[in-house]
Amino acid sequence: MRENRTSGTVRGALSNRRSYREIFWKMEKYHNLKIRNIYPEDHVKILEVMPIWWNGRDLTSSVLKVFFIHFKNTSFIAEIGNELAGFLIGFYSQSYENEGYIHFAGVNPEFRREGIGKALYQKFFDICKIRSINTVRSCTSPINKLSISFHTGIGFSIVPGDGIIDGISVSMNYLRENDPKVIFEKKLRYQPLAQRTTKAGRP
Ligand SMILES: CC(C)(COP(=O)(O)OP(=O)(O)OC[C@H]1O[C@@H](n2cnc3c(N)ncnc32)[C@H](O)[C@@H]1OP(=O)(O)O)[C@@H](O)C(=O)NCCC(=O)NCCS
Repeated sequence: MRENRTSGTVRGALSNRRSYREIFWKMEKYHNLKIRNIYPEDHVKILEVMPIWWNGRDLTSSVLKVFFIHFKNTSFIAEIGNELAGFLIGFYSQSYENEGYIHFAGVNPEFRREGIGKALYQKFFDICKIRSINTVRSCTSPINKLSISFHTGIGFSIVPGDGIIDGISVSMNYLRENDPKVIFEKKLRYQPLAQRTTKAGRP
């Protein structure tokens, strides 16, 4: 898999700014990438890989099995063959009907920078759009520079907070006292109604 991945075939094809559809089509074609909803049985598999994927940080206590039971419709697993390639835990906000929230996401280090993270997020955006949700939020620790690069790289903006760490605006007490977080927000773009067409080509 690795040989195929770095051979240049996929990377070359994906080197410029890439649309989600293009990424997904190529990942499916070359890597047999599948994205599916999560199941409770996936919880153990995810906990096993998390410390490796998070470079030794143990954040497993933030990924509860209850999410795999009650957020099945809004959470996803990416697989390449039988290999776990990535996951995303998300949900529709119960408090703000136009918002979705991505709680956690990770991609297998073997398959990074190939568009899988973006494909998982796009899957979540797609289901949000069905519900007319127009805002997706997420947050990360200011030490997680990779996560900051990823979110800003796929079009999230950083919500101004009440502190600055390493030049980045943070919210000091978002999830608990003195635990600064970088808050991300992305407005989802909808095609104007007039431009939407049916399969028959009619508006
Ligand atoms: C963050 C993470 C999910 C990204 O997954 P990924 O599949 O590698 O990301 P993608 O290939 O979809 O990247 C999309 C864009 O994000 C940005 N990006 C991703 N990785 C980056 C990196 N290492 N450096 C700079 N920008 C990066 C780029 O803009 C990239 O687009 P490009 O490749 O066209 O330039 C993955 O690195 C990961 O699992 N990290 C550890 C866990 C973690 O920190 N999760 C954060 C959310 S809780």
